[in-house]
Amino acid sequence: MTDYYESDEQLGQYLAFHFGDQYFDVANYPRVCADRCRGLVPETDGLRALDLGCAVGRTTFELARSFSEVTGVDLSRRFIEAAKRLQRQGQIPYQLVDEGDITRSVVADLADSGLDGLQSRVAFEVGDASSLADHISGYDLVFAGNLIDRLHDPVSFLQGIHHRLNVGGYLVISSPYTLLEEFTPRENWVGGFYRDGLPITVLEGLRRYLEPHFEMIGEPEDIPFVIRETARKFQHSIAQLSTWRRMRVMQ
Ligand SMILES: C[S@@+](CC[C@H](N)C(=O)[O-])C[C@H]1O[C@@H](n2cnc3c(N)ncnc32)[C@H](O)[C@@H]1O
Repeated sequence: MTDYYESDEQLGQYLAFHFGDQYFDVANYPRVCADRCRGLVPETDGLRALDLGCAVGRTTFELARSFSEVTGVDLSRRFIEAAKRLQRQGQIPYQLVDEGDITRSVVADLADSGLDGLQSRVAFEVGDASSLADHISGYDLVFAGNLIDRLHDPVSFLQGIHHRLNVGGYLVISSPYTLLEEFTPRENWVGGFYRDGLPITVLEGLRRYLEPHFEMIGEPEDIPFVIRETARKFQHSIAQLSTWRRMRVMQ
């Protein structure tokens, strides 16, 4: 499934999801997630955030309303090219599928989302969240939106992510936990199965692998989102957003 997020179809769906219309009164998910992240930190200069699995970048831009420096990382070259073009030109044209081969030309525009002027605070790069480059470190907040159920090896991601965060920094994970063997082999699932006859949820799995370095802050929150597939088909999902704070661990 490495090429799944490189297609015209996915590019159009994600540009529309991040910068297009809202449906069924469900608020823009990348913006709502960024608002939750922004609510965790004081509005002071100098804070740095990392948006992992940033896709075409809406949450990265939204985080830049508070954070001085935001890095968006995604495995899809196509998505990162689109995010960089938005950063450079403020706009990007794309095709919205109405039905079958029938499409419409539309434009994603940063200014329409009130995000113009934030371009100098963001940087986008292609990268694998499970094996990030060394320079991706020293962040005050890491956001992983709808990523955990797309990783081949979520355990190694969860066990290593504290290296990217400053002590006291926040990790925010949001996901509808859509577990699919095409993305995550069953033996790598952190939850969503029975062990000794008892159900183990993904949230319990997150706790298990994060707790050596993190404590959960508050209660998880449900955040709905709608992704338009065609004029007549929409995915309506409910993500669970949980917040974790990196603790100082005495060795
Ligand atoms: C379901 S989409 C979510 C995108 C975005 N966070 C959002 O909520 O709209 C999953 C994203 O994760 C990216 N992705 C998948 N595996 C990845 C990995 N190992 N490292 C970084 N990004 C990855 C995909 O390219 C895609 O953009």
